[in-house]
Amino acid sequence: MKSCAQTALQLGFIVLLCGFLAVWQRTNNDWDFIVYTQQWPQASCVDINETRHEKCFLPSNVKTWTIHGIWPSREQNKGPFYCNDSWPFRESAILDLEPQLVSKWPNLIHGEGKTSFWKHEWVKHGTCAALLPDLDSEHKYFAKGLDLNKRFNYMKVLADKNITPSRDTLYKLTDIRNAIEGFTNSYTIIQCIVAKDESKQAIVQVEVCLNKDFTTRDCVNYDNKFMLLPSWDRIPYNPSFEACVDD
Ligand SMILES: *[C@@H]1O[C@H](CO)[C@@H](O)[C@H](O)[C@H]1NC(C)=O
Ligand SMILES: *[C@@H]1O[C@H](CO)[C@@H](O)[C@H](O)[C@H]1NC(C)=O
Repeated sequence: MKSCAQTALQLGFIVLLCGFLAVWQRTNNDWDFIVYTQQWPQASCVDINETRHEKCFLPSNVKTWTIHGIWPSREQNKGPFYCNDSWPFRESAILDLEPQLVSKWPNLIHGEGKTSFWKHEWVKHGTCAALLPDLDSEHKYFAKGLDLNKRFNYMKVLADKNITPSRDTLYKLTDIRNAIEGFTNSYTIIQCIVAKDESKQAIVQVEVCLNKDFTTRDCVNYDNKFMLLPSWDRIPYNPSFEACVDD
């Protein structure tokens, strides 16, 4: 029979181990792959107008797919987020990139100022991405965004398959998916906004997933639905789709 002391010792060990695991889980900012996300700004604008208190402002130099962010991710779940609160965003670090960032990584929320979106992406995702030598400074993070925006030119990828932005023409989601995934050679997450009467949808965001060497890989479907219900008639210029997959 075990002595009382022995049992107490074993219990103590288990408690210690559990405590250690809990702390490790909370502080481990490791991640497996990158989700690189781009938006179709016209649809994003509808989302902002319809679902937030803010209003959208679409600058005239914003003409193509824009960057949302470079998001480190785990196989099992999204994140990590906010990895280093002693690494604040500094505009001075990216002044040379700003002329490109304002049209390729714009903040579409009216009145917020250009840097608040960059600050948010850096603090939430960039400080976690910085584990990777290729992304271990603010400048590298934002320069990489611009670089990926050139590489994932969905406007051209879709136009090559005769899919062009239009108010009236409807496209099949399979054709969109085939065009994009024919280019990325991987499973992507394609997100839509849906008209109130559910008769139409519009593509609003595409997530492509990347290994740590920036080659493409399949995305993980975390099964979070992206359902927004804007009114349809105010879209100025927008590709529309018959259906959007359950991404
Ligand atoms: C969003 O609202 C702003 C301000 O009212 C307006 O100028 C803009 O055209 C709207 N955009 C869309 C896509 O609804
Ligand atoms: C957090 O950021 C600071 C300031 O840039 C840096 O010195 C430190 O190494 C970072 N810590 C981690 C764990 O990356």
